[in-house]
Amino acid sequence: MSLSAKQLATYERDGFIVLKNFIEHEDCDALRARAEELVRDFDPKGVVSVFSTHEQTRTSDDYFLESGDKIRFFFEENAFLPDGTLRQSKEQSINKIGHALHDLDPVFDKFSRPKEIRQLISDLGIADPLLIQSMYIFKQPRIGGEVTCHQDATFLFVEPLQMVGLWFALEDAGVENGCLWAIPGGHKFGLKSRFVRVDNGGTRFEIFDNTPWPEDNLQPLEVEKGTLIVLHPLLPHLSRENTSPRSRHAYTLHVISASARYPKDNWLQRSPEMSPRGF
Ligand code: FE2
Repeated sequence: MSLSAKQLATYERDGFIVLKNFIEHEDCDALRARAEELVRDFDPKGVVSVFSTHEQTRTSDDYFLESGDKIRFFFEENAFLPDGTLRQSKEQSINKIGHALHDLDPVFDKFSRPKEIRQLISDLGIADPLLIQSMYIFKQPRIGGEVTCHQDATFLFVEPLQMVGLWFALEDAGVENGCLWAIPGGHKFGLKSRFVRVDNGGTRFEIFDNTPWPEDNLQPLEVEKGTLIVLHPLLPHLSRENTSPRSRHAYTLHVISASARYPKDNWLQRSPEMSPRGF
């Protein structure tokens, strides 16, 4: 076991666990260096896709919708000046890379599949795990966009909800540079919405409960580099804008059970030749 009974009880009660020093600093640095290399080699060639969680503007272009089994790059919403040119360098304008880094890049593959993570997933009771989604999140200095309050199960739903989100701090994350905030115990409220594909090629939110989140109960999860935050799929969480001069790089991984049903209308889909793999 890598998780104690007390940690598992915390996960049940709060919907998250904070595990300090889960990742060696040098492994954080290696991932960071690799992400920077990927961005340096990325040629936008007019393919500009913006990532935003503001519902009205959420990008649902083909570049995004086809990214489930690829390595693709999404710009910060505030990356551009009114004339369409970048405010900062390309390297300081990318919001995130997604969503199959862990299957397509050897450095991300190695980071995502050590025995410690496999053990953790097993301790959480997820049988026959599949690594379904990965994201490298930059939270760029000065322009790092906010991610509004959400449950990960809204964007990635399986039935039963045999799933977990892993959030790795690759740098210190505090209130000032846009750390995670969560509502402890909020995973007990139930699923409020699903972000689904629709037949004509777009996406929409299917709403089950539109009462607002009790955001007064949000708690900042200020963590040091190398910390892993384990997130229940129903935990309400957000991160605010990063207006500071410091970045806040993080890597996220979502793991589901092969025995759970994976709906065809989840936005995240893979081609048959790229089925998700375990550890
Ligand atoms: Fe999330």
